[in-house]
Amino acid sequence: MCLQNYRCRLFFLFMHLQLIGSGAAAQVITSRGTHGNYLTIQLGSALGAVFGIFVARGVSGAHLNPVYSLSLCVLGRHPWRKLPLYSLSHLVGAFLGAATVYLQYYDAIQAFSGGELLVAGPNATAGIFCSYPADHLSFWGGLVDQVVATALFLLCCVALEDQQNGPLPDGLHPVLVGALILTMGVSMGSNCGFPLNPARDLGPRLFTFVAGWGEEVFKAGGGWWWVPIVAPFVGGLLGTLTYEVLIEAHHQTTPQSPQQELEEVVVDSGNNR
Ligand SMILES: *[C@@H]1O[C@H](CO)[C@@H](O)[C@H](O)[C@H]1NC(C)=O
Repeated sequence: MCLQNYRCRLFFLFMHLQLIGSGAAAQVITSRGTHGNYLTIQLGSALGAVFGIFVARGVSGAHLNPVYSLSLCVLGRHPWRKLPLYSLSHLVGAFLGAATVYLQYYDAIQAFSGGELLVAGPNATAGIFCSYPADHLSFWGGLVDQVVATALFLLCCVALEDQQNGPLPDGLHPVLVGALILTMGVSMGSNCGFPLNPARDLGPRLFTFVAGWGEEVFKAGGGWWWVPIVAPFVGGLLGTLTYEVLIEAHHQTTPQSPQQELEEVVVDSGNNR
């Protein structure tokens, strides 16, 4: 069955993330704000992640983002040879998620802009699918924004995965990842929409490129497109390593899982009898 295949799950996860996150943006933009606002877009992204992870259960939050997969490779916890196919699953999932949103909102997007597919201006619709910098944002400002945001994001992702830092009930994990995404959205979203994720940005950008928005999707913002790809890797590594060095490296070396403790209690009571 497909869902037993890890890459396939990642594909579903990314399709889901894109479908709900971009769907929320499409609803707000094409309704010119009558059916939602900035906060509903952030809620959409967060809830999209929650349900995406529930659908693709078994995929740890770790691989929600190629940046984290890379960090795990760097730390020696994930085989490098799997990285290209994982990243490809992310990319294809995000691409097809964007295509589905376009299909679903085709009429709305056409009506909104009078049939023109624009990247900038009051009738722009490219921002439904991927990140573009706000007018005030300089190149260096965007780089700093993305490094800081992704570092924080990955630091929290690693903490959620760290069983020695207060283990979480399994079912709570997707909800907390969603809460994390909402946190990022309400605190770090106004510069460039907190892309945080190279695959979720590049996949949909490639879709808009082929679907009719054209090469402007790569030229806009002074050739902005590569910043949400490169900066998250830098920030992600920084965040992961910060957590490793400042927190994880200080855990005791032989932790006891709740299961082990339980087994010991059972053994003890057996002896007492
Ligand atoms: C935006 O699209 C509407 C059609 O929905 C059109 O009437 C209007 O002129 C467009 N505005 C600009 C600035 O292109």
